[in-house]
Amino acid sequence: MKNVVHVALGARSYDVRIGTGLIDAMAAEVSPLLTRRKVAVVTDETVAAEHLLRLAKSLETEGIAMTALALPPGEGTKGWDQFTRCVEWLLEQKIERRDVVVAFGGGVVGDLVGFAAAVLRRGVRFVQIPTTLLAQVDSSVGGKTGINTPQGKNLVGAFHQPSLVLADIGVLATLPRRQMLAGYGEVVKYGLLGDATFFDWLEKHGANVVGGDPAAQLHAVTRSVEMKAGIVSRDETEEGERALLNLGHTFCHALEKATGFSDRLLHGEGVAIGCALAFELSQRLGLCGQEVPSRVREHLKAMGLKTDMADIRGDLPDAATLLSLMGQDKKVVDGKLRFILARDIGDAFVADGVPHDVVLDLLQTSLDARR
Ligand code: GLY
Repeated sequence: MKNVVHVALGARSYDVRIGTGLIDAMAAEVSPLLTRRKVAVVTDETVAAEHLLRLAKSLETEGIAMTALALPPGEGTKGWDQFTRCVEWLLEQKIERRDVVVAFGGGVVGDLVGFAAAVLRRGVRFVQIPTTLLAQVDSSVGGKTGINTPQGKNLVGAFHQPSLVLADIGVLATLPRRQMLAGYGEVVKYGLLGDATFFDWLEKHGANVVGGDPAAQLHAVTRSVEMKAGIVSRDETEEGERALLNLGHTFCHALEKATGFSDRLLHGEGVAIGCALAFELSQRLGLCGQEVPSRVREHLKAMGLKTDMADIRGDLPDAATLLSLMGQDKKVVDGKLRFILARDIGDAFVADGVPHDVVLDLLQTSLDARR
């Protein structure tokens, strides 16, 4: 069971292979990229404990030497300290310009290791082996790499495309349900932004995707990656259309910052709340009927996802502070807030200069619902 999605980017084109058993077949998949029989794998401690042995066995059978570094799990890793550690470790391992670095983990590992590969010796190739649903459908594809700083999320980074992505959906069986649901937040985003038929399908089969049905997972990951690959091929560096992938993200980044990038709110959970709010905002601006945001929220709720600020435990700042946190988002252009809004499910567009008072009102309503 395997699908292949091609990301067409001229000399930087690559395949995303999606299926089961790809970790065990990793050596054969990666072999054509190697100029010498050695790879450096960077992972996190959780993924290392669950899956690294399988990767090592696969490489051993093909006579490929492996050296591995396991970073601490969690968003806190995605900063300067672990980035420096990773780069210096790769140099100590004598990774050269023609070598391949493997990012084996979720979005944190993929972003951090991709950025390390982008700057190491002015750029080495890297392979993404994403181990979460979120990383398989979004962060491993498209070449956005980077780390967080105290000023905000993903504010330092580089566009650096991987040479290959291996999305082994078999690993999803070991994902905690909360992580799985958070990844599903990004899956729904694709239907909402550009494929109403896919959203219809998710309404019927979303429970199978999250519940572990491999055929449903293969379809959901493949369709998500196809959509992302198409957008990235047309707009690699986010001059236009790629911004659609940020549906829900302006709200999400403010909420993540307000909750300290902690496990009070996982990124995909923030995306789900952000999508619900973006559709609500679209309705308040008269772009779509009330039934549209209701349908979005209903599906997210039915899946067990967070959809409102009321679903976030603990204190949140007031609406004005949340609005100012949106101003830290790197999609701000000339100080104006940019939102992804929608005319309908599957029909999103980029909107600049959205009136601040409408956003403020929406945030206030959402905060009031917590009382
Ligand atoms: N995750 C948004 C993007 O890759 O553009």
